[in-house]
Amino acid sequence: MNIGILGAGMVGQTLAASLASLGHSVAVGTRNVSALMARTEPGPYGNPPYASWAREHPAVTTRTLAEAAAHGDIVFNVLAGGAALEGLRAAGAQNLAGKILVDVSNPLDFSKGFPPFLSVANTDSLGEQIQRAFPATKVVKALNTVNAMLMVDPRQLNGGDHSLFVCGNDEVARNEVVRLLGEWFGWSDVIELGDITNARGTEQLLPMWVRLYGRLQTPMFNFKIVR
Ligand SMILES: NC(=O)c1ccc[n+]([C@@H]2O[C@H](COP(=O)([O-])OP(=O)(O)OC[C@H]3O[C@@H](n4cnc5c(N)ncnc54)[C@H](OP(=O)(O)O)[C@@H]3O)[C@@H](O)[C@H]2O)c1
Repeated sequence: MNIGILGAGMVGQTLAASLASLGHSVAVGTRNVSALMARTEPGPYGNPPYASWAREHPAVTTRTLAEAAAHGDIVFNVLAGGAALEGLRAAGAQNLAGKILVDVSNPLDFSKGFPPFLSVANTDSLGEQIQRAFPATKVVKALNTVNAMLMVDPRQLNGGDHSLFVCGNDEVARNEVVRLLGEWFGWSDVIELGDITNARGTEQLLPMWVRLYGRLQTPMFNFKIVR
C-alpha cells in the first residue's frame, strides 16, 4: 500500500519505519525537505536528527506535505496539534479527498509550560475541526492516546492487553482503520466510539495522560477498559 505520513517528528518516524518494514511504500511529508535534512540538533526526546534517521531507513522517502499526501492511499496526520490545520492545508484538500486520514494529533498547548492544556475541548475537538475543514476526507481519530512506540507494537506492554479508541463519521473507514491497526501493529482491543465528535473524549484523555507520564516517568503505559 502507498502510505503518506504528514509530520516528521517521533510519531512520523516511528510509523514510517514500522510500515516500511512491513513492505509498504511510505512517504514522510515535511514543510521543507532540505531544511529538515539540514537540521543537526537532536529531536525533542534526544533522538538523532531526522537526516540520520532517514539514512537508516532508505526505503522511506521524504517529500513535501503535498507530495506525501498525494502519495498515500491512506494518510496519517502526525503534525504538531497547533500546526495540524495549517499543515493539512499545505498538503492540499485535493490530495486528501476521498481518502482515509488517520488523525493522531493532539491539540496540546505547551505555551504555559508543563503540563500542557488543550487548545480546543468540551464542545469541539481537533478531530472535528479537521473533518470540517476537509469534508471530502474520511477523518478517523486513532492512536492519539498512546506513545509512538506502543502505537506500532502494543504487545510490548502487558502482552498487548490494553485499549485503543477509534472514531470518525464514516463507518466503513472506521472499520478499515480498526482492521489495519490489527493487521499492521497487532492491536486487538480497539473500541469504536462512533462519529468524530467522540474525539472530544479521546483528546480529553491527554490531560490525564501527561499527568500519568509526569508521575510514572515513562511513556510506556496505557489505559485498559475493563468490562
Ligand atoms: N510523541 C508521541 O508519542 C505522541 C503520541 C500520541 C500522539 N501524538 C501527537 O502526534 C503528533 C506528532 O507528535 P510528534 O511528537 O511526532 O511531533 P511534533 O514535535 O509534535 O511535530 C511533528 C511535526 O509537526 C510539524 N509542524 C510543526 N509546526 C508546523 C507548522 N506551523 N506547520 C506545519 N507543520 C508543522 C513539524 O513539521 P516540519 O518537519 O515541517 O518542521 C513536525 O514534523 C502531535 O500532534 C502529538 O500530540 C504524539
